[in-house]
Amino acid sequence: MRAAIVLAAGLGTRMRSDMPKVMHCIAGRPMVNHLLDAAVRVFDRVVVVAGPGMDALAQAVSPHPVAVQEDRLGTAHAARMAAPLLAGFDGDVAVLYGDNPLVTEPTLRRLVEARDGADLVLMAMRPADPAKYGRLVLDAAGQVERIVEWADATDAERGIGLCNAGFLCAAWPRLSRWLERVRADNSKGEYYLTDVVALARADGAATSFVEAEEGELRGINSRVELAAAEAELQAILRRRAMEGGATLTDPTSVTLAWDTRLGRDVVVEPNVVFAPGVVVEDGATVRAFSHLERCALRRGAVVGPYARIRPGSDVGEGAHVGNFVELKATVLGAGAKANHLSYVGDATVGAGANIGAGTITCNYDGAAKHRTEIGAGAFVGSNTSLVAPVRVGARAVTAAGSVVTQDVPDDALALGRARQVNKPHRGMSSRGMGSRGK
Ligand code: UD1
Ligand code: CA
Repeated sequence: MRAAIVLAAGLGTRMRSDMPKVMHCIAGRPMVNHLLDAAVRVFDRVVVVAGPGMDALAQAVSPHPVAVQEDRLGTAHAARMAAPLLAGFDGDVAVLYGDNPLVTEPTLRRLVEARDGADLVLMAMRPADPAKYGRLVLDAAGQVERIVEWADATDAERGIGLCNAGFLCAAWPRLSRWLERVRADNSKGEYYLTDVVALARADGAATSFVEAEEGELRGINSRVELAAAEAELQAILRRRAMEGGATLTDPTSVTLAWDTRLGRDVVVEPNVVFAPGVVVEDGATVRAFSHLERCALRRGAVVGPYARIRPGSDVGEGAHVGNFVELKATVLGAGAKANHLSYVGDATVGAGANIGAGTITCNYDGAAKHRTEIGAGAFVGSNTSLVAPVRVGARAVTAAGSVVTQDVPDDALALGRARQVNKPHRGMSSRGMGSRGK
């Protein structure tokens, strides 16, 4: 049995935020959830250490149990808070930092597997710019002697390129004892998890480390580092989408979410944003400047340019959604079209129906939302206002400019506009203007 303690209580002062640091999102979800995704593949149990009142965090990490660190006295102190939840556990425990979200399953696996050769294993990296990371001080035999935090390091120690990525792993009975012995005797007055190394050595324990790429191990302490992690992850997601058979004509301008699913022969034009929960089936096209969230595009559908597809929408096989069209919680049947300047919300649109330019579903009466149903093969004339709840029957037609307040039977034509009246000789000439210039 293996367990992980995920430290997530830090406020991340440098984020200058009212939100816990690990709740900031990359690719559309909190960084702690990225880490948990990798962790659950390697560890049988996960315990999260949160700060007091971090209810949204507790919810985000559910069903993993949460230990609360009332006073944020440092990483070793935080790890200690998990002890009651691990009482009696005698397997290996890894301590993971919630602000290191990009680590992958294979890397975590290497960390725990290296326990075969040492009592305490650390995760290390050689970042291009070691900045303020803790440094690994090795002995002559290549074992880790101690970690020195940047703030407490001498100039020579700051010159070391091998940095502490923050994760470590040891048998819990020993690790918990080392944690209890950590003292807050450093420049910041904090209980450093990193001090466990020197305590382990004093105990005669063998220490080792495994290395991984900086890209996976970067810690996020500021908005600038958050953006760097976002860029790193976007590059991974775009590559994965292209390797899966999607064409991204200008990959760097496309923003993907962690769970975006693009099928084969999907084409995504420049400047498209995928918020979480989007599935695009094979052969569908998302044209430039579109924004999609929690929706599905079925095979061969085409949306955009400038389309907004909001949560709960399902664009049917071969259906078209054109420029400046917004769909919200709307199911568009196969081959249906809404090509220009429309708002269609809380609606079902039958197969092959045509929604004319400027159509609006008036779904909100100021208090509640109401549904609009449009039957298969219906033709909704341009600039129709559909005052919901309302139903337009199959193959029915609404005249352009209609305000439809009553259901329209199948196959009927609805005219819901003022009748036009033509007054002869009342044009411009009758206003003494038509003769000007004569
Ligand atoms: C830590 C390491 C440093 C390493 C770096 C890698 C220590 C003392 N230093 O520094 O050697 O190079 O990570 O990214 O461990 N947290 C709590 N409670 C606390 C303090 C922190 O839960 O009281 C959590 C934070 O939410 C964060 C994680 O622990 O997720 C790491 O803390 P942070 O303050 O970011 O440590 P660093 O200064 O980055
Ligand atoms: Ca950090």
